[in-house]
Amino acid sequence: EVSPTPDLQRTLALIKPDVYPAKKEEIVARIKQAGFTIVKESEVSFDKEKAAEFYKEHEGKGFYEELTTWMSSAPIYALVLEKPAAVKEWRNLAGPTNSNKAREIAPHSIRALFGTDGSLNAVHGSDSPASAEREIGVVFGGEVAGVPPSVLNKETA
Ligand code: PPS
Repeated sequence: EVSPTPDLQRTLALIKPDVYPAKKEEIVARIKQAGFTIVKESEVSFDKEKAAEFYKEHEGKGFYEELTTWMSSAPIYALVLEKPAAVKEWRNLAGPTNSNKAREIAPHSIRALFGTDGSLNAVHGSDSPASAEREIGVVFGGEVAGVPPSVLNKETA
């Protein structure tokens, strides 16, 4: 019987093609320094269909074609991160979506330090517990390290 700590949560991080593999070790070091447990990690190659599925919430937006082409153009590095409030904590560590804005308002964030602009922004983070559960499923399958994401990623967690 699995009984995870009640407030533990999981999220999905991706290290994107603009910084993978060159900055992977530096980024992983910052993830560990921030107290995340890395539950699973792997290099992943999205084909166009996988990228389209991963980003399906953005289908129809102006950047969707560019984003899914880019994310399927080269290998990326995927990590399932765990800690209390992991979704929010990883988005805070990553910083604002646009790396130029990140450098203005969150200069120590990962996007400020390693990203370029609003397209080449170094990392992805799930935007909610529900997105995290879906995205972990898309990348790694439905069960990671024996604990179904639904056990950990309750909206109340
Ligand atoms: S939205 O519409 O507010 O939900 O979009 P946003 O959260 O800003 O961005 C969602 C993801 O799309 C990427 N993005 C882009 N990629 C390429 N070109 C442009 N112009 C662009 N604008 C947004 C952005 O980096 C987000 O990617 P992820 O992987 O989710 O961080």
